[in-house]
Amino acid sequence: MERLQKVIASFGYASRRKAEDLIRKQKVMVNGEVVTELGTKVSPSDVISIDGVIINKDVKHEYYILNKPRSVISSVNDEAGRITVVDLIDTEARIYPIGRLDYDTTGLILLTNDGDFANALMHPSRQIEKTYIAKLDKVLTKEDILAIKKGITIDKRIVEVKRFKVKKRDLEKNTDIVEITIVEGRNHIVKRLFKGLGVNVVKLSRIAYGFLDIKDLKSGEYRNLTIKEIKKLYALTKK
Ligand code: URA
Repeated sequence: MERLQKVIASFGYASRRKAEDLIRKQKVMVNGEVVTELGTKVSPSDVISIDGVIINKDVKHEYYILNKPRSVISSVNDEAGRITVVDLIDTEARIYPIGRLDYDTTGLILLTNDGDFANALMHPSRQIEKTYIAKLDKVLTKEDILAIKKGITIDKRIVEVKRFKVKKRDLEKNTDIVEITIVEGRNHIVKRLFKGLGVNVVKLSRIAYGFLDIKDLKSGEYRNLTIKEIKKLYALTKK
């Protein structure tokens, strides 16, 4: 038996907190009865519906890797009507992105309708490496580079930098292109890290997530993850 909100989240329907809201709003039924108790527990044979739609029957899990273009939003819907990462994928499944990339950031993003998988990968304790290429509006000083490698503190928490290198330096234009690998997923973290040094990120792309890269995908292209990749990603969350 598992708590209802956890089960709703595991089907990728909503976060646990959102699921609790849905229960409070009496939108959730178990075996045809409206549930109002947040502590309600359910078993795999119980039929759960939200707004009258059954959510826990015949859900086939789907897993995608997408090379997100610029000017695409990392969410399921956008009130402003902008294109979302979900719009780029041809499926009927209720998929959503695992984590987010900024509107103007390009590169590797995973999508799924498997809530357990998404929650496992997004959990802050999971040290999954993410590698970014950033174009900066300044040439970094030696001190800047030392500070980055030592770890810059943002909101009282250090950003642990696993690897860092300057890939290209243009002294005439006063720009650097750098590659940085971090394990955390706070919003705008790469931009904020450089901002702390008085440097702006003018272009940002995520090129790797754990062992995955996007070398085989052009901007806007996607593919299904293989079973082997899904298993390997799950294994990363167990470390
Ligand atoms: N860090 C950022 O600043 N933006 C992203 O999109 C991802 C990481």
